[in-house]
Amino acid sequence: MKKKVWIIIGIVVVVVAAAVLILPRLFGGSHRGIDNEPEANVAGESKILVAYFSWSGNGQQMARWIAEETGGELFRIVPEESYGEDYGACADRAKNELDNEIRPALSSHIDADIMAQYDTIYLGFPIWWYDLPTPVWTFLEEYDLSGKTIIPFFSHNGSSSGANSLNRLSELAKGATVLTDEALSIPGSSVADSEKEVKEWAAKEQK
Ligand SMILES: Cc1cc2nc3c(=O)[nH]c(=O)nc-3n(C[C@H](O)[C@H](O)[C@H](O)COP(=O)(O)O)c2cc1C
Repeated sequence: MKKKVWIIIGIVVVVVAAAVLILPRLFGGSHRGIDNEPEANVAGESKILVAYFSWSGNGQQMARWIAEETGGELFRIVPEESYGEDYGACADRAKNELDNEIRPALSSHIDADIMAQYDTIYLGFPIWWYDLPTPVWTFLEEYDLSGKTIIPFFSHNGSSSGANSLNRLSELAKGATVLTDEALSIPGSSVADSEKEVKEWAAKEQK
């Protein structure tokens, strides 16, 4: 009997340790945060903007392929205060901002007259805490998006439907048409091998 109790305790300890130590790694991966390097300035010479927020590079890679395929101009949503390189610190801050609906200040901006040139915005982001990362909230509220079409693309580590992110995006993108049914979803671990899929999707959405 005693032995059984110890076995059960052992199993509980292993499960709890796995939840604490391994699950956050599955979400965050082994990537390092790289959210603070802006793209070159946009010029408003295309009708298409490819805007993205990316902490560990997956969304940035997808955005680059989409821009290559569509001729869209690349714009990175850069937080004024970087989320840093540490996954735990990034996760804590992201959760706090989400819970308190904090819109973090951004350091990258588009002039209103340039933003007015775009008809279509491909908008990329990672799923964070089953939702849209808060820097994207700030981005969406900064501009007059009325009449524009927003086509979302995202990467994730399990939340393949985008969880609440697409609802949130539709709520915040006032006046825009958000093509939630057309959104592209790619697991973070597959992004490196998804160039063909991403480019085919982008080309299809452009028609
Ligand atoms: C703070 C944080 C929270 C995350 N929350 C989720 C989540 O709720 N669901 C999910 O599937 N993946 C989650 N992930 C994993 C990312 O969505 C995934 O690694 C994504 O590919 C990262 O994209 P990026 O490299 O463009 O930043 C989270 C990652 C971080 C850093």
